[in-house]
Amino acid sequence: MSRRRLLFVLLFSTCLLAVASATAKGGLAAPGGSDLRGAAIASAHPLATAAGYEILKRGGNAFDAAVAVAAALAVVEPYSSGLGGGGFWLLHRAADGYEVMVDARETAPSGVVRELYFDRDRNPIKGATTQGGRAAAIPGVPAALAHVAHRYGRLPLKESLAPAVRHARDGFKVDPRYARIAKLRERFLQSGVGTARIFLDGSQAPRPGYILRQPELAATLELLAREGAGGFYSGRVARTLVAAVNAAGGVWRLADLESYKIVERPALCFTYRGATITSAAMPSAGGVALAQSLAMLERFPLRAVSDVETAHLVIEALRRVFQDRALYLGDSDFVQVPLVKLLDKEYLRRRAATIDPKAATKSEALSDEQSARSESGNTTHFSVIDAAGNRVAATLTINLLFGAGVVAGDTGVLLNNEMDDFSLREDVPNAFRLRGGAANGMAPGKRPLSSMTPTFIEDDRGVLILGTPGGSRIVSQVLLIVLEYLRAPHVDLRRLLDMPRYHHQYWPDRIEIEPEGFSQEWRAELAAKGHAIHAANRRWGNMQVVFKSKRTGLAQAAGDPRGADVAWY
Ligand code: DON
Repeated sequence: MSRRRLLFVLLFSTCLLAVASATAKGGLAAPGGSDLRGAAIASAHPLATAAGYEILKRGGNAFDAAVAVAAALAVVEPYSSGLGGGGFWLLHRAADGYEVMVDARETAPSGVVRELYFDRDRNPIKGATTQGGRAAAIPGVPAALAHVAHRYGRLPLKESLAPAVRHARDGFKVDPRYARIAKLRERFLQSGVGTARIFLDGSQAPRPGYILRQPELAATLELLAREGAGGFYSGRVARTLVAAVNAAGGVWRLADLESYKIVERPALCFTYRGATITSAAMPSAGGVALAQSLAMLERFPLRAVSDVETAHLVIEALRRVFQDRALYLGDSDFVQVPLVKLLDKEYLRRRAATIDPKAATKSEALSDEQSARSESGNTTHFSVIDAAGNRVAATLTINLLFGAGVVAGDTGVLLNNEMDDFSLREDVPNAFRLRGGAANGMAPGKRPLSSMTPTFIEDDRGVLILGTPGGSRIVSQVLLIVLEYLRAPHVDLRRLLDMPRYHHQYWPDRIEIEPEGFSQEWRAELAAKGHAIHAANRRWGNMQVVFKSKRTGLAQAAGDPRGADVAWY
């Protein structure tokens, strides 16, 4: 057995044991069927949440509900995720404690070469990875919908997709958030391929209340419902996708779609101060970053230090994990990722030991000598738990707002611009200002590194299911919620979500903070430690959380108050 596989097995079995004992202790013998006691759903759109509840009421389980929510989001939140995108689904099956990550990340098309994205002078071509056919990678969401429904659900795909089909065909009322985002991207949508016709009202961003209909998307969803993944990845839809992407400058082949496979991967599981945390596996860098940060922070007495001291330590941990990400992480099916080393307690102890509690380390001075060399608004997250305790945390995306701005022919499918999540060259940052190296370079069939971090936290009090959009800032958002959830004596979802957010990603070497919620003293004390502070002009993220109490068996859901804001870099 390879070391990497061994690590996964070890982590995975630890996780199963912890989960099994937690379930037994809680005694959550909740009734199944259509009983909604103990069930909860949090998503970025009320119609998507309602779609999930509708499916639970019809006797579906959390997995069926997740399929319904994801498909509905594809219709009512088209700037965030959809059939043209990808994502990660973290599943927990109550009956046997089985946990898995369904990796539905997009893959690079077989015709990809780096030269497509550079001009003759070796300068990156502006917009090549973010707009048009070259920006789009092979989608994974349709395969995931079919897979999750068939393998884990109780209902036929047709039933779980029905609410989405309805919203696409009959239309839905544009809400203020859609109106604002469409306004922000009005020019992008006007100049995109097939986008104005669908997402604008005439050539203008629609106003709230406008009924947005997507009959072509409804037909594609129905085909998927009837024929399963084959209805999307082969035949007429697939041919239309290839033709449209290539007409917009892409290099897709039919075989890229026909051979697309979702991958089931053992979830990343670890413990932090007595809680069991299950999170995204590679090719998301999010779970690894969370595990590394928490292992470093476990070495400091966080309860005994001030808010500023805590922020300093969190930032220094983030600085180090984002350095590791830039140096070593990439699709582990393609490159050797030294995961064993990166998650090794001794390695993380040495990394933590370089943190000076009094002063900021300059990123450029952060040595990677003792490191592991030896071996990315708009995205959506939803959390679901059903009465029986089955859970889903899913973060899905088409990357930037309205993805690549290409709707494929008459399919109604808006394509992602996930190619921007690859690293073009060490000196070329992506849309989230992330830099990376060869490990995350483009290659045919490869999955770009992601920050998406769907996560479960279990402790004596219950289980928290969480995740958020926000590009590279996903990692710090999840980390801050985990720390606060475990620090506070009572579970108060509103408080968790209201907390102001800060972020650091190694490069640029500065703390990014939300515009409100940080006092002058807080800023001054961190500045005195040598940190540069950059206040963003907007808040970020759209965290969707569900908490189920072990004591009462009751579940509650909460959405980010920032949901109405537009997170943009
Ligand atoms: O996979 C990633 O990390 C990015 N494509 C996620 C993009 C995102 O969260 C945009 N939201 N603000």
